[in-house]
Amino acid sequence: IIPDSDVVPLTGRVGAEIRGIRLGGDLSDATVAAINQLLLKHKVIFFRDQDHLGDSEQEAFARRLGDLVPHPTQGPVAGTASILNLDSSCGGGRADQWHTDVTFVDAYPKFSVLRGVVIPAAGGDTIWSNTHAAYESLPASLKLLADNLWAIHSNAYDYAAVRPRATADEKKHFEEVFTSTIYETEHPVVRVHPETGERSLLLGNFVQRLVGLSKSDSTKLYEVFQSYVTAPENTVRWHWRAGDVAIWDNRATQHYAVNDYGDQHRVVRRATVDGDVPVSVDG
Ligand code: SIN
Repeated sequence: IIPDSDVVPLTGRVGAEIRGIRLGGDLSDATVAAINQLLLKHKVIFFRDQDHLGDSEQEAFARRLGDLVPHPTQGPVAGTASILNLDSSCGGGRADQWHTDVTFVDAYPKFSVLRGVVIPAAGGDTIWSNTHAAYESLPASLKLLADNLWAIHSNAYDYAAVRPRATADEKKHFEEVFTSTIYETEHPVVRVHPETGERSLLLGNFVQRLVGLSKSDSTKLYEVFQSYVTAPENTVRWHWRAGDVAIWDNRATQHYAVNDYGDQHRVVRRATVDGDVPVSVDG
């Protein structure tokens, strides 16, 4: 259905560009199944030249991958069920922390579908990491340790600490929109993928601490594991054009939106597909 010649791997471990497909709600079941398989294999896949997609077409396509789920605290774009507007001119619109989307709820989204709407002339790339490759690159002793750890994830964090130069307006917007309701949950640090059976590190910016450890030990260990996630060998960097679409398996990736474009405008819009509660190595 999607010939190998239309699948262009971008690195040795993560990411592929898919050519020759016009995304939409009307794709055949076989093509949707092929996209699903490519996501499981490459973790993040990219499609250029999808300028025909508006918000409703983006949702119609994303709905073919599963049920759509809105962001828990930020209302969807008017007229859509679930689309999150990420606009650099609003507080919270720059996702420049390594994270997996919405891990502060029990069953967080399985796929994210992100569309480039306004892209800076220079800068504003996004980097993804393959968190299965990160787990596999751990030495055996650290795998064993990670297998037995759990982490507390929450959307309650100190905005001033992560963005010390935020204006009062940005801080207010962030507090009103992203932390209006506080969520907290525990996830295993190693998640077993429900479709592939692969193990991956489940960490990222929403982690408050590792269960049962002091804040100090927790921070040090978090940094050790996270250093495998952010190792260049496990990542791919995408240089956006307006009309591009990136889709990632949120169960096997983290990502980071590079905040290097100053006051140039950047807008991306994200649809998210409902996921399930992560399962640890103990089942
Ligand atoms: C996101 O975190 O989903 C947005 C990433 C981006 O702005 O590139």
